[in-house]
Amino acid sequence: MDNPSIFADSENETRNILNQGGTFLKSARCAEFRSAEGRKKAYEQIEEAEIDALVVIGGNGSFTGAHLLHKEYGLPVIGIPGTIDNDLYGTDYTLGYDSATNVVVECIDKIRDTASSHNRLFFVEVMGRDTGFIALRTAVATGALDVVLPEEHSSMEDLISEVEKSFANRKTSNIIITAEGNHLGNTYDISRKIVEQFPHIDTKVTILGHLQRGGAPSCMDRILAGKLGVAAVEALLNGKSDVMCGVENQDVTFTPLEKAISQKVELNMDLLRISRILAT
Ligand code: F6P
Repeated sequence: MDNPSIFADSENETRNILNQGGTFLKSARCAEFRSAEGRKKAYEQIEEAEIDALVVIGGNGSFTGAHLLHKEYGLPVIGIPGTIDNDLYGTDYTLGYDSATNVVVECIDKIRDTASSHNRLFFVEVMGRDTGFIALRTAVATGALDVVLPEEHSSMEDLISEVEKSFANRKTSNIIITAEGNHLGNTYDISRKIVEQFPHIDTKVTILGHLQRGGAPSCMDRILAGKLGVAAVEALLNGKSDVMCGVENQDVTFTPLEKAISQKVELNMDLLRISRILAT
């Protein structure tokens, strides 16, 4: 941190931010932190600012850094899962996921107005570089014809056959959701392949991009943030460290940071089945 004075008036700094998106601390990925030298510099700044402990909100990269700070300097650290991707082990939900999926649903509802008015097929690309949580959840919530995930589950031929069946069933418009890191490739290329097969269908692509990462947090995210924030501070006061607090089946749980970082979290593929039933 280049400017420790940011901590000078921390009580006032954190008032009236409950309803804001983004980060007022301006914290972000930091390549320097990957080296022992970079972490030493960070620790010196932490000492200088007289910080006793860290509550680190983030995903795998942030937790790796927090874990190393704890290991190398004995600094008490607690992780809070914060990523719109929802891809962290040890929690059912990560902060930002619900807000981001609400944005996606709102946007797709609007896109559907054009799709149905003009008999179009829309490909809507949502975020999710490595996992398809956003794509799958919003596919169910918007009644999408199909969803293409980073987790391999279907081929281009399957997609073509879904489109064929749907238009044969006299459905005149459709939405297909793609995750940015999907296993079939670039969304424009997928769309082009569909146009080759169905040149008579008016096909469009919308990339939602960073729209998904902004705006006021949803009610569910605010409650989750409150629950986990209180749990993290209480855990630190009780001497806990090097763990992530998450929420599983409504209860706050603690998972060692090392485990949260190393374990892979799986998508609930039953949602895909549900999505396909609802789309027919
Ligand atoms: O990791 C969360 C995420 O939202 C990904 O889904 C997305 O690929 C990435 O962040 C975008 O990050 P950036 O804004 O740094 O390009």
